[in-house]
Amino acid sequence: MCGIVGYIGHRDAYPIVIKGLQRLEYRGYDSAGIALYDGASVNLCKTKGKVEDLKKKAKSEISLSGNLGIGHTRWATHGVPNDVNSHPHYSNSGDLVIIHNGIIENYESIKKELIKRGYTFESDTDTEVLVNLIEEVKLKENVMLGQAVQIALNEVVGAYAIAVFDKKKPDEIVVAKLGSPLAIGIGDNEFFIASDASPFIEFTNNAIYLEDEEMAIIRLGKEIKLRKIKNDAVAYPNILELQMNIEEIEKGGFDHFMLKEIYEQPRAILDTYRGRLLAKQGIVKMAGIDQHLDKFLNANRIIIVACGTSWHAGLVAEYIFENLARIPVEVEYASEFRYRNPIITENDVVIAISQSGETADTLAAIKLAKENGAFVFGVCNVVGSSIARETHAGAYTHAGPEIGVASTKAFTTQITVLTLLALKLAKEKELFTDSQFHEYLTELETIPSKVEKALESNPLIEIIADVYKDSTNCLYLGRGYNFPVALEGALKLKEISYIHAEGYPAAEMKHGPIALIDEHMPVFVIATNKGHYEKVVSNIQEIKSRKGKIIAIVTEGDVQVKELADHCIEIPETFESLTPLLTTIPLQLLSYHIAVMRNCNVDQPRNLAKSVTVE
Ligand code: F6R
Repeated sequence: MCGIVGYIGHRDAYPIVIKGLQRLEYRGYDSAGIALYDGASVNLCKTKGKVEDLKKKAKSEISLSGNLGIGHTRWATHGVPNDVNSHPHYSNSGDLVIIHNGIIENYESIKKELIKRGYTFESDTDTEVLVNLIEEVKLKENVMLGQAVQIALNEVVGAYAIAVFDKKKPDEIVVAKLGSPLAIGIGDNEFFIASDASPFIEFTNNAIYLEDEEMAIIRLGKEIKLRKIKNDAVAYPNILELQMNIEEIEKGGFDHFMLKEIYEQPRAILDTYRGRLLAKQGIVKMAGIDQHLDKFLNANRIIIVACGTSWHAGLVAEYIFENLARIPVEVEYASEFRYRNPIITENDVVIAISQSGETADTLAAIKLAKENGAFVFGVCNVVGSSIARETHAGAYTHAGPEIGVASTKAFTTQITVLTLLALKLAKEKELFTDSQFHEYLTELETIPSKVEKALESNPLIEIIADVYKDSTNCLYLGRGYNFPVALEGALKLKEISYIHAEGYPAAEMKHGPIALIDEHMPVFVIATNKGHYEKVVSNIQEIKSRKGKIIAIVTEGDVQVKELADHCIEIPETFESLTPLLTTIPLQLLSYHIAVMRNCNVDQPRNLAKSVTVE
């Protein structure tokens, strides 16, 4: 977690670093800081709070000039969020200045050693230990900053993306990466450093994504020098041309990124299947899978590993793969999988799902699966992310940048990719006739316009949100394909409005949660017309007879549930297996409006971060 930004070149660094930090605030937002070199000295300002607070403080406290700057937005790990623990951190001499995303696990033992050698520490952070270790190496070994960074990093255990400069040599920034992302934007004798490309996309489309255990010495007027941290080997920069554009990372007239991203779903789903779904020809084309089809077709089972919302998409995929492609599937929390000595064989295919492609637990689960000989397929949104690189093959979701911390379009596009994959396998296994296959693909093609239709319920949803905004508990129920959507609906409400919510398979209600139902309990029920409809109607009756409030998501033209429920939100009719792509839309909007009405920070909910790079 945490976002880092840096600039060295001919422009003023301050506006670039500040704007970059605002774009990276999704990664952490409990404190922020900046350090600028103005040609004579370093001006450093940091504060608990948001980048907006930093801007105010910096304006009144420091000179904002200089062509070299680094900045940080923090999600605290070591040390509470306060001004002192915020980054950047100075070394004891005041010469070195560092920003860091990650955790140095052995910082305590290093700190003790440094204290013995006379070092003092102002903060409780592992980062201040690291910058002083670099300084100690630099002085003791009498080496340049790059070499000192390299030697020091060989002594630390943990994860990092760092940027460090020496005020005595202000034409250079040294960066390094292990486990946390780091991109370098390359301009015309100017360089940008950031946790992702969004801070520099309006200046350059050329970027290098450092690999794990790589570092770079970025010096004005020189080529970037890349080397391996462990063995000093020279690494060759792979300069990518980025496709991202500036509109994608701005709010585009919406009040919040989350709302923008909810409304982007028709486009995002279309982009996910564009070029892959060829309904007329009856083909699903997926470049990432074609040469690995045998792995899937001969697999004993598919194991899906993911966290949070991506795990919910994995649960939907379990129903899809088993029903359409008849391949057994297990869905695992990556954090549990990696630590429970799972049985993995060479005949297993592991699918790792991750929007950010940086989630530490998912990454570790992938490494474990690979060590045990499994074929690992990634479903990621962020191009070039660690998970995309670590997997044997994969498919991007092409949802575009997701900035709101609560995942929305990532979920529906992950389901779309996984549906395409299941369809491709089903076709290979001849489980569909040509006409059934064609019918399925044609229906999938209608989903973007059906999502548009589902979005039209927004005014009604706002009214319903107003009725339930003060609830303290909510229950979400669904069955079959829509059980994971109930889990996802509950997660969305919890994380952005701080209302306690639980998702359950509707039939499980009578095994416990029914005890909670009274006139104060809103129950959101997914009751589409296909798949156990009558049984869900019975569950609704059970809630009604205990005076629970029922908010139902139903198929257009529904009659039965409308008579029972307090509120109904309609979605267009589609195949049962595609309903999650529609039923999730009203639940996203409901959470959004409730959170706004409760004055919650929708895009940056408390305690959360978009990219969970710590375990
Ligand atoms: C919820 C949410 C999180 C993420 C989870 C996994 O709205 O965003 O639960 O889904 O942290 O993140 P990725 O998909 O980036 O691996």
